Amino acid sequence: METKVMSARDIEEMIKTFPQYTHSWVKGREIMYNYQGIWCHPKFLEGIISAQHTFKAQPSDVFLCSHPKSGTTWLKAIAFAIVTRQKFDESNTPLLTNIPHNCIPSLEKNIEQILENRHIDNSCITPIATHIPYNLLPESIRASNCKIVYIYRDIKDVIVSYYHFMLGRLNVPIEDAPFEEAFDEFCQGINVFGPIWDHLSGFAKASLERPEITLLLKYEDMIKDPTSNVKRLAEFIGYPFTTQEEKEGVIERIIKMCSFENLSKLEVNRSGIQNGERARAIVSENRLYFRKGKVGDWENHFTDEMKEKIDKLINEKLSHTGLAL
Ligand code: A3P
Repeated sequence: METKVMSARDIEEMIKTFPQYTHSWVKGREIMYNYQGIWCHPKFLEGIISAQHTFKAQPSDVFLCSHPKSGTTWLKAIAFAIVTRQKFDESNTPLLTNIPHNCIPSLEKNIEQILENRHIDNSCITPIATHIPYNLLPESIRASNCKIVYIYRDIKDVIVSYYHFMLGRLNVPIEDAPFEEAFDEFCQGINVFGPIWDHLSGFAKASLERPEITLLLKYEDMIKDPTSNVKRLAEFIGYPFTTQEEKEGVIERIIKMCSFENLSKLEVNRSGIQNGERARAIVSENRLYFRKGKVGDWENHFTDEMKEKIDKLINEKLSHTGLAL
C-alpha cells in the first residue's frame, strides 16, 4: 500500500475522483464515494486514508471493530466501563455525561485526536473503535499482535437500523423513503462501509487465522447472555474481573450501566451531539444511536420476499465464514 504522506488537500482532491453514489431514498442529501471497494462519506474517507498513511499501532492497542449499526455504541460503553472501573463506577463514570462515542475515539473520525493522545502517558489503555473493514485497516494494525474485537449482528436488523438512522440524520420523513429501496441498495452492497458481506468475511477470516487476537461478539448473544460476554470481553482485552469483583456484582453493575434502558434515557444521549461532529460536517444527534435496541425488529419491516432474498444472499456470500447469521 502507498505510504507517502498526503496533505488533507491532496486527500480531498483524490476522493473527488472516486466513483460516487447517492441513496435514492435519502433524496440525494448525501454523496458516498467508493474507495478500495467500500462506500463511505467523504469526511470518513479522509479519516480512513489519513489513518492508513499515519497511524502506527502500538502493542497495547485494542481495536473495537464493527459494521455500522451492529452495536458499536454498546460495545464502546461496555469496553470503556471495563477499562476504567478502577477509577469510576456508575455514580461518576463519564458515560453519564458523554455519549460512548466521545469516551472511545474512532480511527476514521478522530485520527488527529488519537495521534495527539499518543504522546500522553496513559495508565490504562484506551480502546480505539473503527468501522474500517479488516483489509483496509492501516497495515501496522494487521501486522501487529494487537487485539481486535468485532461485534456483528443479524444483517436484517442492521438494515432496519441503518434505514432509520439515515432518515433521522438527514431529516427525511419516513413516508418519503420507501424501505424497499433501502433494502435493495443494501443488498447490492451500497451502504456506508458496505458491502456488509466483505466486512463480515474479513473479520471472520481474521478470527479463523488468528483466533488468539481476534474476538467475535454477536449482538444477539450479548442480549441473551450479557454476563458471559462481558466477562469474555474483559478477559480478552486484558482486564479480567477478579473473584472478589464478581462476588461484589461489578459485572452486573456494568451491564446495567451500559444497558439500552439506562443509556438511552440519559440527557446527553437524548439531546447532545458528538464531539467533532460539526467539524466533520456529519452531524448525528446522539439520540439516533439509541433507537430500540431490540432483536428482530426486521419482522416489522420485511416482506416474505425480502426475507427470502436476504437469506439467500447471506447463504451465498457468508456460509463459508462459519458465522452464525
Ligand atoms: P436499533 O436501531 O435496532 O435500535 P451502532 O451503535 O453500531 O450504531 O448500532 C446502533 C444500534 O444499537 C441501534 O439499534 C441501537 O438502538 C442499538 N443500541 C445502542 N445502544 C445499545 C445498548 N446499550 N444496548 C443494546 N443495543 C443498543
